[in-house]
Amino acid sequence: MPLTLALVHHPVVNKRGETVVSSITNFDIHDIARSCRTYGLDRYFLVTPTEPQQWLARRIVRHWLEGWGAEYNSNRGEALQLIEVLATLDDVRRRCIELWGRPPRFAGTSARAQGGVLALEELRAMLEQPEEVTCLVFGTGWGLHPDLLRGLDFLLEPILGAGDYNHLSVRAAVAIYLDRLRGHVSKTP
Ligand SMILES: C[S@@+](CC[C@H](N)C(=O)[O-])C[C@H]1O[C@@H](n2cnc3c(N)ncnc32)[C@H](O)[C@@H]1O
Repeated sequence: MPLTLALVHHPVVNKRGETVVSSITNFDIHDIARSCRTYGLDRYFLVTPTEPQQWLARRIVRHWLEGWGAEYNSNRGEALQLIEVLATLDDVRRRCIELWGRPPRFAGTSARAQGGVLALEELRAMLEQPEEVTCLVFGTGWGLHPDLLRGLDFLLEPILGAGDYNHLSVRAAVAIYLDRLRGHVSKTP
């Protein structure tokens, strides 16, 4: 049942297909945390191996959880308290075992995913299994490195639009996936 999300900053590729570490961006911290809080996720893992980037992300989160930031906008803190900053997906695995006693099933995302992908309807049903822990994995830069994607438990079907183009911002992709996996249609007229 626990549902988590990992935003990965390494290994990702750049526009030339080279393996890089991307930088954490402020709006990924805030916007994705708000989506996670809205759809009831249990953790939002920011994954970067770079210590100065980890420090920066923790500093931003702390600003909104303590002192002036917390007083000024408490519902921002309510979303940001889901965040944990970790170095690798192995650390995410270890943290999930600490929290829930079992490793997560890692579900990767890519605009180019094809062949052997898991349908979102199927994952939505799987999320009801009370004992299972799931981690949705999203990329930054030009996307998750192909070796990382190959090592995950599933690759999710991509979000498709009206035509050929489907390269969404990671924030938009997260919101669409979470709505399809956890959203409800309002019953009010
Ligand atoms: C390649 S990064 C782009 C990061 C970009 N610099 C930004 O500001 O959002 C976008 C990530 O969002 C997800 N994504 C984007 N479009 C998608 C789609 N159509 N289907 C599935 N996942 C998608 C994937 O996780 C992908 O790695």
